[in-house]
Amino acid sequence: MRATTRWLCASVFAFAAACGGDVSESGSPGPAPAAALTLSPVSWNQANADLGTVATVLESGKTTAVFGSNGVQFFAGGVLVATDTVVRAWRVAATVPAADGISTWMIGVDAEGKLLRVRPEAPPEDVTARFGLTSSVHALAGAGDRAAFLVEGGFAIADGKNVTRYDASDQRSIATAQGRVAVATERGVRVLEQGRETDIALPGAALVAFDGGGRLFAATPRCVYEISGTTPTLAYDAGSRTVRGLAGAGANVWFAVDGDLGLLVGGKVSVASGGALGPDTRLVGSPSGDVWSTSGGKLSRFSAQVARGEEATWIATVRPVHDAICASCHGARGSGKDASNLDLSTYALWGARKAKIRTRVVDQAGTQTAMPPKGAGYTLTADQKAAIDAWSK
Ligand code: HEC
Repeated sequence: MRATTRWLCASVFAFAAACGGDVSESGSPGPAPAAALTLSPVSWNQANADLGTVATVLESGKTTAVFGSNGVQFFAGGVLVATDTVVRAWRVAATVPAADGISTWMIGVDAEGKLLRVRPEAPPEDVTARFGLTSSVHALAGAGDRAAFLVEGGFAIADGKNVTRYDASDQRSIATAQGRVAVATERGVRVLEQGRETDIALPGAALVAFDGGGRLFAATPRCVYEISGTTPTLAYDAGSRTVRGLAGAGANVWFAVDGDLGLLVGGKVSVASGGALGPDTRLVGSPSGDVWSTSGGKLSRFSAQVARGEEATWIATVRPVHDAICASCHGARGSGKDASNLDLSTYALWGARKAKIRTRVVDQAGTQTAMPPKGAGYTLTADQKAAIDAWSK
């Protein structure tokens, strides 16, 4: 491929308030508060193959490739089919259009920033030069005929024929879909499309992602935005929490907020609670709509469970009471918050104890046998009591 370098003229970014976008400036109300999200862990490694310390994962057709201290482990249909142990230190990985412009390649970026093509039947092959790159690659993305790379001092876009180098500073994240490439930098999001460049002011932009429909999302450490045209619209305000990951997955866009996962779909936002993801969390979207997370070297896969009917009511009205009060003593066995010896950590467990809960919380309120126990330092507000009253009728 032919490599060229383009210099971008400095662009002037307007200053936008934190978590504002155009929303707060126009005075319109922000997004609706996040609903509760229920996650189901997805079992994808049926034989429980040891994964070592996982750095990242990619899905390509029916193949899932796990990159980590065990090398690259290839799974098909939930079964480990091949392992390559040559390289055991990885940064990121993605499926990108090949440098020959015909097929797609599974590429892992090793600890030095080299691009290594991986496949079950052959050892990793260094293809850094095939993409016209020399410098250290930090991140990559691929879709359609486009491969995009964050490199030292800028980024590069390969379209199967040419590789174009762009200089940039403070570049943090790159994504591509439907011929568009988006790069998050300290000052905002730069979008490149058919040779045109657009700079969208979004101070602190750290993450970018496209959903399967080509809609663009960006996140700062405090907020998640959907960007249409050149306008960022606030989709989620993390308040005092920190947004740490963003990934498109089919129609879904997932984000991590402190230990929890959040989901944006169809303009609605929902956030799970009680998660244990670490500050190093990274997300990888699955084309199925699921999300992969890596945190502390541990790989997990989740799908969003859409609650209906009574469960949805419980999630919306009772679970917040559980999280705030009951969870301190009624956690799952071994959680360290199980002093009561009665696990009430799920909807099903509440359902099974419905009458007892009503007796202790509603009927016996104010007595010695009330829940939460008298004198233990917990009291229900009138609203919290009303929520349990209404649910347990
Ligand atoms: C400070 C700790 C603490 C908190 C907070 C607490 N509980 Fe309890 N709960 C206990 C203990 C200990 C027991 C077992 C002793 C007892 O029955 O009084 C218990 C027992 C119960 C029982 C009786 C179970 C049975 O089958 O007999 C129910 C129902 C219950 N709690 C519901 C709740 C609900 C609902 C909340 C939140 C609104 C809550 N508790 C908050 C400590 C707590």
